[in-house]
Formats: sequence, structure tokens, C-alpha cells
Amino acid sequence: MNITYIPLNESDMKPVPQALGFGNNFTNRMFMQHYAPEKGWYDATIGPYRPFTLDPATAVFHYAQEIFEGMKAYRRPDGRVNLFRPWENMKRFNNSATRMAMPTVDEEEHLEAIVQIIALEQEWVPDAPATLYIRPTMIASDPTLGVHASKTYIHYVIIGPVGSYFREGFNPVPVYISDTYRRAVRGGTGAAKTGGNYAASLFVGVEAKAKGYSQVLWLDAIEGRFVEEVGAMNIYFVYEGQKLVTPPLTGSILPGVTRNSVLTLGKDLGYEVREEQVDVNEMLADIQSGKITEVFGCGTAAVIAPVGKFGFKDEEYVINDYQVGPVARQLYQTLTDIQYGRVEDKFGWTQVVEGG
Ligand SMILES: Cc1ncc(COP(=O)(O)O)c(C=O)c1O
Repeated sequence: MNITYIPLNESDMKPVPQALGFGNNFTNRMFMQHYAPEKGWYDATIGPYRPFTLDPATAVFHYAQEIFEGMKAYRRPDGRVNLFRPWENMKRFNNSATRMAMPTVDEEEHLEAIVQIIALEQEWVPDAPATLYIRPTMIASDPTLGVHASKTYIHYVIIGPVGSYFREGFNPVPVYISDTYRRAVRGGTGAAKTGGNYAASLFVGVEAKAKGYSQVLWLDAIEGRFVEEVGAMNIYFVYEGQKLVTPPLTGSILPGVTRNSVLTLGKDLGYEVREEQVDVNEMLADIQSGKITEVFGCGTAAVIAPVGKFGFKDEEYVINDYQVGPVARQLYQTLTDIQYGRVEDKFGWTQVVEGG
């Protein structure tokens, strides 16, 4: 990929912020390239972070043909910068693109663009426990209301420092189980990282907040019986402190990089790890009997998010006395130690950003 570097003006330069929220601060530069059928991807640039000017008829605004990724860069103790399994995000970006009838991007070139922008913006990578969040995105850019796949696209990458994802920090969160609404259906787009899945989830999120919960547990859309995901995270159940169970990837669940890492790490730490369907009623009964000792969500943003309780049909089910359990704590510690380069990476999961 031939990237053109556009110089920044004085007015493009913002100082690095000190107080960090999630997703409110972006660096001074962004990566962008365009696609047209006759040219393929063209005009790749790294230049000033700028708003877009798009025709109000632009396809993405109407039919949500768009995809994105979420990954992070971590400041190592030696001052260099780590990426965590970035190849998996590049692969998933292309899987999402294919599902949404969008063009794919060369995975090596995409990663190279990300590495280049981080290397240029390295002073924006905060020290642990904060991180630099990376948001690759592709949008349909044809200025037309016809309902069909766009011919033209814009692919861009924005990055910005982030603090903790949850207000609660590494503490248990209360989770609401909707009896009515579903996130994704088998055969639909749940396994793709596309905006529509998130738009569809917002209504229940509002309902959950109003009832005092911070996340939603999603059940399968066909029977409303099997557990799928929690908020924008995959989910794990811990049975009797030694068996980890996560639902299998049946098409409506996003194949999380963290979920996959916990499968490997869990086995390595000596747990029995299974991909099995979890019936919501059995699961709640297992919480009440104490057979389920911990529940946690996992994803790039929060890493590991312990669930303190579920609310379902006006009943509450408290897990592990609303305390962070030992398995969640151990996985959080081990994963973040690898991500930040504080321990040896025996799985080969990290990549140091050269020049970063
Ligand atoms: C719906 C959904 N499930 C699960 C995940 C976790 O995926 P990952 O571990 O790759 O961040 C995400 C993204 O963070 C998500 O948006």
C-alpha cells in the first residue's frame, strides 16, 4: 500500500488529554482510503483527523452498510507499544465485509496502516492501566437511495486513548435479561461487527439502565432459551470454580478475540474449558444452588467484566455474593499481563509496534 502522508497544520495539533473516558478523545491523525470497482482501493493517506463531508443520500446513513473493528495498543514497561492478536481483527474485519457485501482489504496492508499511524502518534499511547483504542471502519459511500450494495466505500482508522470501559472499573456489574427482545438471529448478521447489531440493542440497553442494570444478557432469537452474549461482550460461566463454559459460535454470536484467548488461557491455567449451549433457566438455577460460582463477560474494551447479578422476570440472581471471583481475577491479571508485555508471551499473541 502506498500511503501518502499529509502534513499537519498548527490548527490540527491538539494536546494529549490527561483525563480519559471511553471513546471521546482521538489523536491528531487518521488513516483513510477509498474504493471504487474500477480502481480497487486507492488514495491511501495518513493525515489530519477531520470530519467527513458526505451527501445526505449517502448509503451508509440509510441502510447501515458499514463495519468496524475494536482493538487496542498497550504501553509496555520498556516504553514500547504492543498490539494484541491484531491479525485476528484484520481477519474478522474482512469476514464482516464479506457478510455485508463490501470489498475486503489486504490484511497485511491494513495492519501496516494501523502500525504506521500508531508509530506517528506514539506519544498518545497512555501508560497502563489505560490503553490506545483503535477503530478501523468501512462505510458505503454511494450517494444514492437505491437499496443495493454500494459501489464505492471509505475505509478509515481512528485511534484515541481510553480509560476504563465501565464506570464500575474491575468490579461486578448488574445484568438484565430481556424476556422480549433479541440482539441477533442465526442466519442474520450477529457474527459480523456491523452497526445494525448495536443499533438493535440500544432500546433494551435503555430499559436495562432504567431498571438499574448496566448490561443486557442476550438470549437466542429462536427459542429465547440459550445464552448468547452479554452487552458487547462474549460470556463465560464458571462451574464449581474449575470448569469454564462459553456458548459455541453458532452464527449469531460475534467470535471475540478475547473469548478465543480465554479458551486457550483457561486450558493453560488448568481449567476444564468447554464450548456448550447454556439454557437460561438451568443457568439461573445453577446460580441459586451455588453450582455456578462466577460469571463474566469478556471483550477488548473491558477485558474481563465480572457479573454480580442477573435480573430476569422481576427476580434477582446474585452471583458469588456480588464479589469478583478468583477465576475472573486470575484471567484478567494473566491476560492484561500478556497484553501490556509484563510477562513472557508464550502464545505469540503480541506484536511490538516498531518505532512505537
Ligand atoms: C457483540 C460483541 N460481542 C463480543 C465482543 C468481544 O470481542 P473481542 O474480544 O474481539 O473484543 C464484541 C467486541 O468487543 C462485541 O461487539
